[in-house]
Amino acid sequence: MGQVHVLDHPLIQHKLTYIRDKDTGTKEFRELVDEVAMLMAFEITRNLPLQEKTIETPVMEADTQVLAGKKIGLVPIIRAGLGMVDGMLKLIPAAKVGHVGLYRDPETLKPHEYYTKLPSDIAERELIVLDPMLATGGSASEAIHLLKKRGAKQIRLMCLVGAPEGVDVIHNEHPDVDIYLGALDDQLNDDGFIIPGLGDAGDRLYGTK
Ligand code: PRP
Repeated sequence: MGQVHVLDHPLIQHKLTYIRDKDTGTKEFRELVDEVAMLMAFEITRNLPLQEKTIETPVMEADTQVLAGKKIGLVPIIRAGLGMVDGMLKLIPAAKVGHVGLYRDPETLKPHEYYTKLPSDIAERELIVLDPMLATGGSASEAIHLLKKRGAKQIRLMCLVGAPEGVDVIHNEHPDVDIYLGALDDQLNDDGFIIPGLGDAGDRLYGTK
C-alpha cells in the first residue's frame, strides 16, 4: 500500500490558504502555485541519494557530497498540472518533463486522454506526476496507468490538495505509488469538487470560465 505524505511545512500551509481564497486573482494564484510547487519539490527530494565527492576548498581538501545523479521525470497532467512545473524545475532543473493531457468529463467525471508525450527513457526515471487536485482520483489514476503501460517503474504523485476518495482510488489501483499532498481535505461534494478545496485549479490558473 502506498503512503500519503501531507507536506505540512508552515510556508506551504500559509500559501495554500491564499490559493484556496476565492478572492485571490489569476496572477497571484499562478504565482502561489509556482511557489508551493517549489516548496513541495524541496520536501519531495529529501531522500535523493548522495555520493561522495572530494574537492579543494580555498583552505584544504574536503570529502563532500553531491547528488548521485538520480534521473527524475516530471509529468504534469495538462492543463492544471502545468502550473506546478516551473516551481519544481527551479529546484530540480535537470529533470525531464513529459506531458499527459486528460480532461474530466463534467457529466461522468471520467478522464479522457487527448495528448501524451514522454521522455524516451521513462523506465529509468523516477517520475513525479503533478496535478493540483486529486478529486475522484480518476485523472491521476489514468495518468499513472498510461505511464506504466509505457514502461514506467517508479512513480510518485504530487498534488496541492487531495480528497480521501481520490487517495483511496490511487491506493487501490496503484498500491506502489506514494502520494504527496499540501493538504488532505474533507471530501468531495455532489459535483465531484474537493471541499473545502480551491475551486477549479485549471480555470483559476488560466483565467478561463
Ligand atoms: C481537474 C484537475 C485534475 C482533475 C481532478 O482537471 O486539474 O486533473 O480535474 O479530478 P479527478 O481526480 O476527479 O480526476 P480538469 O478536468 O478540470 O481539466 P483542466 O486541468 O484542463 O482544467
